[in-house]
Amino acid sequence: MLNFLVRQATVADKPALFEFLRRAYPDRAQYKFPARWEWEYEHNPFARGTLPIWIALDGDRVIGQSGALVEPLVLDGRETRVGWGVDFFVLPEYRGQGLGTRLQQANNAGNEIFMSLSMAATAARIKTHIGLRPLPPVPVYTKIVRHDPASVLHTLAARTKLPEGLIRRTGVHRLSASLLTARTARRARGISHPARGVIPVARFGPEVDDLWARFSPQFPALIRRDAEYLNWKYVAQPHVQYERFVSPHGYVIFRRARPPERNVGLILDVFADPADEGTLRALLGLAIHQLTAQGVTYLQAASSLPVIGQILTGWDFKQTKTAIPMIRANVPVPDAGWLLGKGDHDWDQFPLA
Ligand SMILES: CC(C)(COP(=O)(O)OP(=O)(O)OC[C@H]1O[C@@H](n2cnc3c(N)ncnc32)[C@H](O)[C@@H]1OP(=O)(O)O)[C@@H](O)C(=O)NCCC(=O)NCCS
Repeated sequence: MLNFLVRQATVADKPALFEFLRRAYPDRAQYKFPARWEWEYEHNPFARGTLPIWIALDGDRVIGQSGALVEPLVLDGRETRVGWGVDFFVLPEYRGQGLGTRLQQANNAGNEIFMSLSMAATAARIKTHIGLRPLPPVPVYTKIVRHDPASVLHTLAARTKLPEGLIRRTGVHRLSASLLTARTARRARGISHPARGVIPVARFGPEVDDLWARFSPQFPALIRRDAEYLNWKYVAQPHVQYERFVSPHGYVIFRRARPPERNVGLILDVFADPADEGTLRALLGLAIHQLTAQGVTYLQAASSLPVIGQILTGWDFKQTKTAIPMIRANVPVPDAGWLLGKGDHDWDQFPLA
């Protein structure tokens, strides 16, 4: 059992890998390959020509994999590369024999910096076991904008301990849902709007290179958010449709999820001078108004930046979760001051996990 081969993949493994992906992700294989696979691995401009996937083989059959989404990372002004651990899967009949651990070890050894932000519990245990350590947590913020009667019924039944059928007959859940939605809309009037000088862009240009040059020195650790990176991540990424707005003082990227995803509006990235609260409010407010007008049920954002948390919680967002980033690096890395959010890693992969 222990002599399964674990090694880095090459493009010659493509047919065997696609066969594996068909088995591993039967209900969403079409979102895993070929378009996403080519974008993520084969044509990733930051992967420098190698295929950042490690595979386990039983004979010539691929039975497990661990991939790296390679991105440019800037640490105290010095550029390096990070491999975010992605697409980690071992076929069910081969699990629990240490193959997942071997795949993660190989991926870890193949990247100067190996990181993860959003991961399953077993993956987190394996990563701890092979030496990744946690960084400060990244809070996730959620706000319901449209209260639907079925969820209100559920909450009322839980709080009052009355049977759902009884409450349903009174219709109080429907009334409560519309009152709650109306109250949310009333309170949303305090959210900054409109944002002056902000324009939608189909692609990012030199204006974001200028934002990057001006504001990136204020962050000890962050992905290089210049036009090259942003166009790869938020324009070229298959299956996902992002909305991108840029002003002379910052940018914001968001999207409305679509079936088979839940009806959520996601704020993926907002970038500005962290001391310029006015711009952050204007950009976040714009995303919230646009997504609400598109009919989302709830809004979600995540950010390691405290000022963003303060703005969002001031607008009735609740902190609903935290993600614990994990890292192993061959170079010194700061513990604090990372700029991390919902757009990092593959946290926003379509369809949402
Ligand atoms: C996560 C996943 C890839 C792990 O693969 P795996 O080959 O089972 O991994 P390992 O065998 O190395 O470790 C799995 C468990 O078996 C245990 N284990 C490892 N070697 C073992 C051995 N020789 N004998 C018994 N158990 C062993 C590990 O301690 C681990 O236990 P834990 O879950 O309590 O921490 C696999 O479970 C999977 O494909 N899951 C579905 C997809 C998924 O969730 N991916 C992660 C996305 S972030």
